Amino acid sequence: MKDLFSVAGKTVLITGGTRGIGLMIARGFVEHGADVTIASRSKDACNEAVAELSQYGICKAIPADLGTEDGCKALATAFAATSKKLDVLVNNAGANWGAPIEEYPDSAWDKVMALNVKAIFHLTRTCLPLLYESASADAPARIINVGSIDGLHAPDLETYAYSSSKAAVHHLTRTLAKRLAREHITVNAIAPGPFPSKMMKATLEDFGEAIVSAVPLRRIGEPEDMAGVALYLGSRAGAYVTGAIIPVDGGMSTTL
Ligand SMILES: NC(=O)c1ccc[n+]([C@@H]2O[C@H](COP(=O)([O-])OP(=O)(O)OC[C@H]3O[C@@H](n4cnc5c(N)ncnc54)[C@H](OP(=O)(O)O)[C@@H]3O)[C@@H](O)[C@H]2O)c1
Repeated sequence: MKDLFSVAGKTVLITGGTRGIGLMIARGFVEHGADVTIASRSKDACNEAVAELSQYGICKAIPADLGTEDGCKALATAFAATSKKLDVLVNNAGANWGAPIEEYPDSAWDKVMALNVKAIFHLTRTCLPLLYESASADAPARIINVGSIDGLHAPDLETYAYSSSKAAVHHLTRTLAKRLAREHITVNAIAPGPFPSKMMKATLEDFGEAIVSAVPLRRIGEPEDMAGVALYLGSRAGAYVTGAIIPVDGGMSTTL
């Protein structure tokens, strides 16, 4: 069982892999010998992340805007041009929007639902042929979606579209897990608690102390916490787990 957690040689595609949680997951896979491709809208961010991660192993990038179905298809097509199979798809890219209930705009719903929910469906569907190439009963292909503890409990902040989108991510995860099990593809979601990132910067600056004191383990998440669960789900160790929503939150949602 010494290779139980190995992901060496696996092909991995990580959306939003240029910073924050996606970068934490990307670094974990790169350092453990996977062949990793990251995607995000900004070419510069892609180049910077590739330069950083290439110190540790194999990392490439494909700039893509996943806010539309066409953008998802373009990423899958570009990935297929360089890789004959996909072992692990990490649907991590996401956006948030906070505003008082009276002012919460319709456009926030469109933007957040398009990226956080619809992009997971569209990218997964267009990547299926490559996932089938990898999938077998002994070694299923993997899809890892990034949800949130805000999809498990009602958040304090006024992020109506975001928390609803994350509950949808969790249920889409279960629905896809049921359909794709027969294709030997597992589908799980990670539900992070507070992790440092651009998305969380203002929240951690304004409410950092209160957030830490609300976490039973009394700290925010670190890159190893996120990489660890992703490597578990991507390796032999996680092969019999599907349809699971795994909170990685220092006990915030699990001990409520
Ligand atoms: N940080 C936390 O505490 C926390 C907690 C719970 C859940 N999450 C979830 O974790 C995931 C990552 O969040 P994060 O905190 O790391 O946020 P982040 O720092 O804002 O990173 C978001 C990533 O997604 C990419 N992205 C944004 N819009 C995109 C689009 N339209 N097409 C393609 N890529 C796009 C960004 O790159 P570009 O701007 O270059 O496109 C960036 O790489 C999200 O799903 C988020 O909801 C985070």
